[in-house]
Amino acid sequence: MSLQCFLFSLVILLNVSLTISSNSEGNALHVFRTRLSDPKNVLQSWDPTLVNPCTWFHVTCNSNNNVVRLDLGNSYISGILVPELSELQHLKYLELYNNNLQGEIPVELGNLKSLISMDLYGNALEGQIPSSFSKLKSLKFLRLNNNKLVGSIPRALSALSNLTFLDVSNNNLCGTIPVDGPFENFPVQSFENNSRLSGPELQGLVPYDLGC
Ligand SMILES: *[C@@H]1O[C@H](CO)[C@@H](O)[C@H](O)[C@H]1NC(C)=O
Ligand SMILES: *[C@@H]1O[C@H](CO)[C@@H](O)[C@H](O)[C@H]1NC(C)=O
Repeated sequence: MSLQCFLFSLVILLNVSLTISSNSEGNALHVFRTRLSDPKNVLQSWDPTLVNPCTWFHVTCNSNNNVVRLDLGNSYISGILVPELSELQHLKYLELYNNNLQGEIPVELGNLKSLISMDLYGNALEGQIPSSFSKLKSLKFLRLNNNKLVGSIPRALSALSNLTFLDVSNNNLCGTIPVDGPFENFPVQSFENNSRLSGPELQGLVPYDLGC
C-alpha cells in the first residue's frame, strides 16, 4: 500500500469512527426503541439514520447536540429498560413514568452521571433498586413508586447528598429504611405501602436484611 493510499484509508476510518461516536446517543435510544411496544406511535419520529437524535420527538438536546432530556411519561409504551441508556452521559431528566415498563432496572443506569431527575414511577418494574444509583451524585429527584420492586433500599443511597425528593412507596420493598444523609428528611409517605419495609426504630434490633 502506498503512503497516500494508507493516509487516505486512515482519513476514511477516522471519519467513520467520528460519525459513529457522534451518534452513539441515537444508537442507544434506537436500541431502547427496539425493545419497546409503542401502540400510540409516539416514537414514530425516531429515525436512526439521522445524524443525531436531537430532532426526535420526546428527546431534548443541549447546544452541543447531546441528549439532556428523555420525556416519555404517560406514553402507553411497554417493554424493558436497556443498559444502553447509560450511554446518554449528558442526560439530566429521565422521564418514563406511567407506562408499562417491565423487567429489572439495569445497574448501568448508575452511570448516568449528569442525571438530576429519574422518574420511573407507575410502571411494572421488578427486581431490586440498583446500589449503583449511589454514583448518581447530581440526582435530586428519584421516583420509583408504584412498581413491583423488591429487596431492601441500598444503604449506599445515603451518599446522595443532593437528593431532595425520594418516593419508593407502593412496591414490595423490605428491610430497614436508611437513616443517614438525605434520608433524615424524607417523609414516611415516601416509603408507604411496601410489604415488609420497617422504619429506623427497628434498626440495631433486627438484622438489616431480615425478611428480604
Ligand atoms: C449539588 O447541588 C449543588 C446545588 O444545586 C450543586 O452546586 C452541585 O454541583 C451538586 N452536586 C453535584 C455532584 O452535582
Ligand atoms: C397506600 O395505600 C392506600 C390504600 O390503597 C392509599 O390510600 C394511600 O394513598 C397509599 N399511600 C401512598 C403514599 O401512596
